[in-house]
Amino acid sequence: MEIQVCIGSGCHLKGAHYVIKRLKELVAGNGTAKPVRLTASFCQESCTEGVVVRINGVVVKNVSIGNIDTIFREAVARR
Ligand code: FES
Repeated sequence: MEIQVCIGSGCHLKGAHYVIKRLKELVAGNGTAKPVRLTASFCQESCTEGVVVRINGVVVKNVSIGNIDTIFREAVARR
């Protein structure tokens, strides 16, 4: 599974670094599941709907520290 977090200035202002920090914790706690590749991306041209995260190519908008756990769990369950 590949997860890309936008680190453009719009998403940065909306807390992208907190989302990345939490994702690192979730990936580390993912145990024996398939590997997760966590990377950063430049602006995805949806700055007003940031934080923008791409999971296996699917764009997820309005990601925050408040919903990233749920989004991650659902993505892991889908793969
Ligand atoms: S800065 Fe993230 S979509 Fe533009």
